[in-house]
Amino acid sequence: MTQPPAPDPDEMLAQMKQQVLEGWEQGADFFDERSGDQGDEFHHGVFAPAAERMLGLEPGARVLELACGNGAFARRLGRQGMQVLATDLSPSLIAHAVRRTETISDQPLDVRYEVVDATVEREIVNCGGPFDAAVCVMGVMSMPLLRPMFGGVWRVLKPRGSFAVVTLHPAFATSGYKFARSEQDDEPHGLTILRYLSRYVTHGVTNTAQQDRQLYFHRPLTELTADAFASGLVLDGIEELAAPVTEESDARLMWNVLPDIPMAIALRFRRPA
Ligand SMILES: C[S@@+](CC[C@H](N)C(=O)[O-])C[C@H]1O[C@@H](n2cnc3c(N)ncnc32)[C@H](O)[C@@H]1O
Repeated sequence: MTQPPAPDPDEMLAQMKQQVLEGWEQGADFFDERSGDQGDEFHHGVFAPAAERMLGLEPGARVLELACGNGAFARRLGRQGMQVLATDLSPSLIAHAVRRTETISDQPLDVRYEVVDATVEREIVNCGGPFDAAVCVMGVMSMPLLRPMFGGVWRVLKPRGSFAVVTLHPAFATSGYKFARSEQDDEPHGLTILRYLSRYVTHGVTNTAQQDRQLYFHRPLTELTADAFASGLVLDGIEELAAPVTEESDARLMWNVLPDIPMAIALRFRRPA
């Protein structure tokens, strides 16, 4: 009996990339509306402040942002006087980012946007540089490959430049968890972790009202950091982040009832001198 041909890894990768792109293109309007000018409460309450703490930038710093979405963090940095080149895979999200930035009239911002696929090293290198810092907030879960991103960032960063990566926490939030519920009132009071060490691909939503699902790539911390180390970056900062405590009725992912379990993690990589 003849065996079916083994799947071609390059073709599988190309298909995954296409699916990621289509997912974000289809979800772009929804994401933009949900995020607004400053990002949702998770973004502006937790992720963006953590990225800022990690980068510790002074006004005038040149920053490259990868996977910028509708530009919420780029505008935040721009308002603090940074020079930002913000990039994303999705042309529709870049269009939202440009539109939102153009309507800011109180303060001209030094923020530019470009479509860049962060899984292609050459595209990152073409962003120019050298940059004082790079940042990627909630983007790496959407990327089937990380090595090109870390390699590209190493090449465009100044020596001692830092790269902040904020992502869903692999141990808790992409690990195939289930909420553990109390027998008395069925309220979530903890998590059951179903898998962690193996890498896998899943379909996720950025909130419960979302219709279209995106591909999410789970990788344990060892793998998430290994590609950075292989590219010559070192890890010199880490923060684990709980969800914002909010009264909002959107019980999205329900993380806000678990203040002692970090749903996200911020990592700071540095290009050595
Ligand atoms: C959850 S959103 C985060 C957006 C933004 N950083 C924020 O925090 O609001 C994920 C973003 O990753 C982008 N993305 C996915 N794959 C990418 C890739 N290969 N290169 C660049 N951006 C990518 C998507 O288009 C989307 O804008």
